[in-house]
Amino acid sequence: MAVPKEVKEEVERLRELIRKYDYHYYVLNEPLVSDAEYDELKRRLIELESKYPELITPDSPTQRVGAPPRREFPQARHSIPMLSLEDARNEQEIRERIRRIQSMVGGKVEFCVEPKYDGTSLELVYEKGVLVRAITRGDGYVGEDVTPNARTIRTIPLRLFEPISIEIRGEVVMPKRAFQELNRRLIEEGQRPFANPRNAAAGSLMQLDPRITAQRPLEFIVWGFGRSEIEFKKQSEFLKKAKELGFKAPDPFVSDDEDEIVRYYKEWEAKRDSYDYELDGLVIKVNDISLWDKLGYTARAPRWAFAAKFKPRERTTKLLNVVWQVGRTGIITPVAELQPVEIGGVIVSRATLHNVDILKKLDVRIGDTVLVSRAGDVIPQIVKPIVELRTGNEKPVPIPDRCPVCGGEVVREGPYLKCVNASCPAKLVASIRHLASRDAFDIEGLGEKTARLLVERGLVKDLADIFRLTKEDLLKLPGFADVSAEQLALAIERAKKVPYHRFIYALGIPSVGQATAKLLAQHFPRFEDLMSATEEELMRIKGIGPETARAIVKYFSDEHNRRTIEKMFKYGVKILYEDEREGPLAGKIFVFTGELDCCPRSEAKRMVEDLGGSVANSVSRKVSYLVVGKNPGSKLRKAQRYGIPILTEEEFLKMIEEAKRKA
Ligand code: IVH
Repeated sequence: MAVPKEVKEEVERLRELIRKYDYHYYVLNEPLVSDAEYDELKRRLIELESKYPELITPDSPTQRVGAPPRREFPQARHSIPMLSLEDARNEQEIRERIRRIQSMVGGKVEFCVEPKYDGTSLELVYEKGVLVRAITRGDGYVGEDVTPNARTIRTIPLRLFEPISIEIRGEVVMPKRAFQELNRRLIEEGQRPFANPRNAAAGSLMQLDPRITAQRPLEFIVWGFGRSEIEFKKQSEFLKKAKELGFKAPDPFVSDDEDEIVRYYKEWEAKRDSYDYELDGLVIKVNDISLWDKLGYTARAPRWAFAAKFKPRERTTKLLNVVWQVGRTGIITPVAELQPVEIGGVIVSRATLHNVDILKKLDVRIGDTVLVSRAGDVIPQIVKPIVELRTGNEKPVPIPDRCPVCGGEVVREGPYLKCVNASCPAKLVASIRHLASRDAFDIEGLGEKTARLLVERGLVKDLADIFRLTKEDLLKLPGFADVSAEQLALAIERAKKVPYHRFIYALGIPSVGQATAKLLAQHFPRFEDLMSATEEELMRIKGIGPETARAIVKYFSDEHNRRTIEKMFKYGVKILYEDEREGPLAGKIFVFTGELDCCPRSEAKRMVEDLGGSVANSVSRKVSYLVVGKNPGSKLRKAQRYGIPILTEEEFLKMIEEAKRKA
């Protein structure tokens, strides 16, 4: 059957639109249309393609998944070798390398400085704008052909916005938040989590079954090129072009000033934790490409570029002991006590071992030398024992058969051990800690020790009792005096007015973290609506799965929980709803971008919320102000486009001061 001309045209039109929408959604993080509109276009394209299969081309947006599993990856040769980089490990080595390049060139040199993304490198071969091959770095000369896997990564265009032939090189990465989420899933299934986002990215890309890769939240970020039809003059110009072709690429910092570059390096090292991609340093490249051949190469690496590495995130240390911690839900987690070791600027003395299955798979023993990794602000974890260093004196970790706190019965729940005693004091202590934490009721001065004392002395029998505590009660606790008791009583009183989403989070409903609590607060105008929601209603919310829906319904159908909540209200807890927030910043929505000098983001957020305002994560037309710190991200462009007032950090702090005066 010949394909009618109108159909061909419609298919082309649909593909072009979908490509554009994909680019805005995945690369720019700025959706242009609603999900429903997008789904409709995709549905129509699939319909036409199944009716006229001869129209299907490999670069159609429908052709990302579907390739069958392979037995092995075929090998493929890079047309130009993919080299490695030499490292500079500190300020002094960076200065030395810059000066060496300057003296080889014989004068001032402009450098292009980019983040060094910690993932796995990949080369994408485009012919006349169409992706034909994706090859891993391999030994630099020959890599593995992972084309079907690469096609599933949404930030890899199947077709460029211009029909050119070019080899694009970049890093396949997994954003930190997605990495944590993936690990959470793996841990729950009793599988070993990935030690860091790099291993997670590499492990996910190198799956023989591309359907598994498709489910992993991978991204591709450009850093270089191989053969190219376009002749680039500068690296910074190349990165700009890569964006125009449809890729994600960093905004580089261009400078010919050694001090300025060092300052930029220090700034990045200081803020690397707040960035959603794991970086292991910066890459400093000579910007003028015509100098590259002149400077030449060593056997492994170019002389015109080097890696300015940050402090490493993995260290070895001794495993001193394993203790068992009972959480809110009764789950008993093995926690490693380590000989304190500095990892990337933080002293680490504890690491999680997740659960019994993982503990057994890792086969760590007390006394082992272990490799510990700390990815960003994620809880440190043990990657593996260094078996070669065993002396024979290491002891296996004993698995408890009773609850280490109440001595109650312990059961297995999947890979977890769980204390089944409903009134185990450890559960209540953990729940109080959660309720009092910064992102919940934020009760300053109610830490682990006090929580334990309150439970031991019988002053707190359920979470609501916290809100009945008086100064006199607190004075009965060891270590409390007039001032400290007064302060804590006051902190509790002040905390009673709590923003809606923080209240939901504070309850400690299993699998309801901060993000889910926010979603729930957005969807249910009043708390009563949430309490009576059904699983079906909950599952209709994008981002809430059946497991979470079930946990929420179960939580609210529990008589004890309902009574505790009622008591909280009786003792003065008051939910502050978004539409009735009080304070001088009520109704104002703030978004932050870039790094703030004054304080961590969480602190700035708290200042806004305490004055009745709210903070959003992304720019929409509803936003009142964008606060811009150092090295702002793409939010700035978007806010400018929407005409949203932009505040410098100083202006923001001034606004807060004024609001405080009015409050
Ligand atoms: S340039 C010949 N730039 O780091 C120059 N590499 O340690 C090759 N990487 O194999 C590298 N971010 O996988 C360059 N902005 C960046 C990078 C980057 C991450 C990776 C890349 C490379 C490795 C070298």
